[in-house]
Parts: sequence; structure tokens; C-alpha cells
Amino acid sequence: MTTILFAPLQGYTDHVYRSIHARLFKGVDAYYTPFIRIEKGEPRRQDVARLQSPLNEGINTVPQIIFSDADEFRRLADIVVEAGYNEIDLNIGCPFPMQTRRGRGCALMSHPETLAAVAEQMRQMPQIKFSLKMRCGEVGADGWRETAEAVNEMPLAQVAFHPRTGKQKYDGELAMDAFSEFLTQSKHPVIYNGDLHTPADIADIYAKYPGIAGVMIGRGLLARPSLAEEFVSGEEWTEQRRISALVRLNEEIGEVYERDLCGDVQILSKLRPLWDYTEPLIGRRAWKAIHKAHSLRNYHAAVAAIAD
Ligand SMILES: Cc1cc2nc3c(=O)[nH]c(=O)nc-3n(C[C@H](O)[C@H](O)[C@H](O)COP(=O)(O)O)c2cc1C
Repeated sequence: MTTILFAPLQGYTDHVYRSIHARLFKGVDAYYTPFIRIEKGEPRRQDVARLQSPLNEGINTVPQIIFSDADEFRRLADIVVEAGYNEIDLNIGCPFPMQTRRGRGCALMSHPETLAAVAEQMRQMPQIKFSLKMRCGEVGADGWRETAEAVNEMPLAQVAFHPRTGKQKYDGELAMDAFSEFLTQSKHPVIYNGDLHTPADIADIYAKYPGIAGVMIGRGLLARPSLAEEFVSGEEWTEQRRISALVRLNEEIGEVYERDLCGDVQILSKLRPLWDYTEPLIGRRAWKAIHKAHSLRNYHAAVAAIAD
């Protein structure tokens, strides 16, 4: 049995994307929402509205929260519970300065005392299944050691681990030694996350680390939405089939935004990013034509040219 989780990707995997992906593709066991946060002293309204959207219904959706302390944690956790969810993912891996300078995301990896206070709050919510997403450190690859004990003491169903530092963000060499050590010492089931792009990549990671409880995939699924289905079914799709499936996904998402938003500029600001990670599949020319489209007419012409 394998477990494949769709990683949260702020700006990409919103409720619209997740609902259409889940309808068109099999193989993903759960979809994690991009992080929900406090902004100007209040839970961000857009985050709360997306959490409550009926598009989440019938899909295994795990809301993720980002917080600087036990108080922010509790406020956000209560909102998620009020919206009817019984699972919450805790983000202590985000490397973006907008969050880390507020003491959130991977900035928490050097604050075991804050995690202990958060764990106290978690214990007061025994009906909720909590998970956590982290990286190997904020600055150095062994930063995880500082909070390893605090993480082990938290009531968690699983920990997803991305073996890069906050400084590296999402590129550069993977610290697989750190992952290996983390896996050995973790009291919780561990999910591997990072750079899985093909069914063979998924098979390799399971073969190298049989102790993992699953994998979490972000950009690999954006680039190849059928990746989980291909892996689970054991059948690799042809390039043509993958392209058709990608076009269908992005066109169906496009229909929602064209119905709900007004004006080419606003609609295109949602549609063009859908193709950001797809250049290896659709090719440089098609990718450039889509990203250069400044009207819906040109956009549709560029998409039609890929599908031909
Ligand atoms: C544009 C972008 C947005 C992201 N947003 C989030 C987020 O909201 N929450 C989170 O935990 N991780 C976020 N991540 C990290 C991904 O979930 C994932 O850990 C990372 O991309 C590595 O996995 P991958 O190589 O499979 O993409 C984001 C990454 C990118 C590139």
C-alpha cells in the first residue's frame, strides 16, 4: 500500500484546482490546502471563504495553518474546526520571509518551547487528527535536531519532511542524509517530500526508504497531473495522453474562472500560472505562447495549439 499526498502550493492548488483535479485524476489520497494565516490581526478572509467552499465537499481535504505561537495556532485551529474539518496540518517549513520574519514557518524550527506550547493546545483538541510539515532546517541541514524532541512529543499522525533548508527554499541539493536520520529517530510516521517527478522517482524513494509512510508531491503533480494515477495503476501514460489530460484539467479550471471573474486581465492572472511547471511536457514554444498571451483570445489559441 502506498500513500500519495498532494502538497500545498500557495497560488496554485486552491479549492478550484483541487476539486477539478480530484474529479479527473485518481491516485491522490489527500489534498493539503495552502496555508491559512492571520493577516492584520484577523484570519485572512479569503482563506476562510475557500475553506468553507462547497468545492471541498467529497474530497479528502486537509487544511494547513501557519502560526507564530500557541495563540495564533489556536485561533486558526478553531476556525478550521468550525468549518467542519477534523484534520489540521501544521506548517513549520515555509521559508518565505513574509512568514519567517513574523516567527512563522521554518522560523519555528529553532523554537522548541513554542512547539511545546502548541502541543499543549493540541492535546485540548483530542478529536482532531494533526499532522506537521517541516524541512531539514532554517539555515543548516541539521537544524531539525533543535526541535526533534519537541516534534516527537507533539500528538501527530504524521510528519512530512522536505530535505532542504529554508535558505535553499525549493531548489538545490537534497539533504538525503538528514532525511535518513530524521526517519530513524522520528516517533511519528514520516512522509517524504521533494522532487518526485515520475512514477520511477516514487518507486525509487519507496525502495530506498521502506520505512516511509508515504510521499507528498507538489510540483511533480502540477507538471504531470496524472502522476499519482500512473504510479498507482502501474501504467505509464503516453506523452500525448498526458498532454490531453493536462489541457482538459486547465480548461475546466479556466471555465470556472471565466464564469466567476471579470475581464481578461483578472481571468488570465488565474489561468497562466496553471502552466508554470508544464514546460517539460508541452515544450518551450507552447509554454511561451501561453505566458505571453495578454488576451483570452490569444490564450485560447495558444492552448488549442498544444492540443492539436
Ligand atoms: C509556489 C509554492 C508554494 C508553496 N506553498 C506552500 C504552502 O502553502 N504550504 C506548504 O507547506 N508548503 C508550500 N510549498 C512547498 C511545497 O508544499 C513542497 O514542500 C515543495 O514544493 C517541495 O515538494 P515538491 O518538490 O514535490 O514540489 C510551496 C512551494 C512552492 C514552490
